[in-house]
Amino acid sequence: MKSLHVKPIKSFDITLCGIATDKSISHRAALFSLLSDKPSIIKNYLQGEDTMCTLHIVQSLGASVAYDGDVMIITPPQKLQEPPHILDCGNSGTAIRLLMGFLASKPGFFVLHGDEYLANRPMLRIANPLRSIGAQIDGRDNGNLAPIGIRGQKLSPFEYASPIASAQVKSAMILAALNASGPSGVSEPTLSRDHTERMLQGMGANIQIDGLHVKIHPLQEPLKPLELTVPSDPSSAFFFALAAAITPGSKILLKDVLLNQTRIEAYEVLRRMGTKISYIQHSNIYEPIGDILVEYGPLKCVDVDANIPWLIDEIPALSIAFANAQGKSSVKNAKELRVKESDRIATTVQNLRKCGIEANEFEDGFEVVGSKLKSASVQSYGDHRIAMSFAIAGLSCGIEVEDTDCIATSFPNFFQLLEKLGADIEDKISE
Ligand code: S3P
Repeated sequence: MKSLHVKPIKSFDITLCGIATDKSISHRAALFSLLSDKPSIIKNYLQGEDTMCTLHIVQSLGASVAYDGDVMIITPPQKLQEPPHILDCGNSGTAIRLLMGFLASKPGFFVLHGDEYLANRPMLRIANPLRSIGAQIDGRDNGNLAPIGIRGQKLSPFEYASPIASAQVKSAMILAALNASGPSGVSEPTLSRDHTERMLQGMGANIQIDGLHVKIHPLQEPLKPLELTVPSDPSSAFFFALAAAITPGSKILLKDVLLNQTRIEAYEVLRRMGTKISYIQHSNIYEPIGDILVEYGPLKCVDVDANIPWLIDEIPALSIAFANAQGKSSVKNAKELRVKESDRIATTVQNLRKCGIEANEFEDGFEVVGSKLKSASVQSYGDHRIAMSFAIAGLSCGIEVEDTDCIATSFPNFFQLLEKLGADIEDKISE
């Protein structure tokens, strides 16, 4: 197991290129390529462990992949294969949940599984609505926990109102609807990230969006192939925005980042806290893409209780900004944090306390009293975003983060980029 010691740094002024590309879009690009009958061309596919799992699954289902280190060409099979082994989704909730919706109507028997963390995350939120339209899905705990077995069936058209704003639930149901026997609808209580709708519409699917409702017509023929360049992931880039926000006198230009409104809300929270943020959009292919300029400003406390799905992945990182701010900050309406890669309410609060910060849990969030962080040794709890958030905290006070292997699931070059800020990182390998 690898641990890392991150030492404090001085101010920096830097342009950062090569930030890990978007995880949500990469998973979707691999999977949606199976909806066409022609090769999809994908540039900058994320080479993280999770997205590579999805790519291997797409290959196990019969696609062939050619990759020259830059451009990936995914050629779909004429007919989906029924693989003679389990489909390993690694640590990825997005992979397993989107695949459940995609495979529910495909002829054959499929078993989806993942690592010890994924195997404990709830799947009934997908299994139950799919079962209600005829899908045959089972697993441990009555289909709630992986391994998940799916025997593809004909699916009825449906109208599903999701009780949670989850892009994974919405996307799974949209994928199922593409193969149902008539038009279907999915709605959500507030808008979650909308990459599935944008990408499928770009591929020619007949999908109509009306506020929080998505109407899906079943596919009459294969879709157009994808041709896209995956931009940098705003959730990964956010760790470096945070670094500038907590290091007095610093400035960073984050290059070629996805600027979709449902993904940059955490930057807006930093702005409310006193950081200077500007967006410079330079293209729009499926999604708006551009650079984000982040400049240090003294941080003041903030209460965050709205647009939670738009910043759900950045809340552990935001907690480090809260700890560096003046006054008491809070997050509410974020119960979903309890079922992420770790229980992020508990793991964030435990680690902050280890750094000498006063922090308290609520059922649906937490509060943090800003003061000076002290040097400490914290755990990742096998959660990539907890590991990276506290590595960044180390830039102000010096921190040892135990078990950092999980960072490779989403951001394989995280530490190389951290070194570009001038960070001094010491590796420690233990049993
Ligand atoms: C994702 C949706 C979100 C997010 C996850 C990626 C996606 O999960 O937390 O990291 O790509 O659809 P939920 O749909 O569970 O909110």
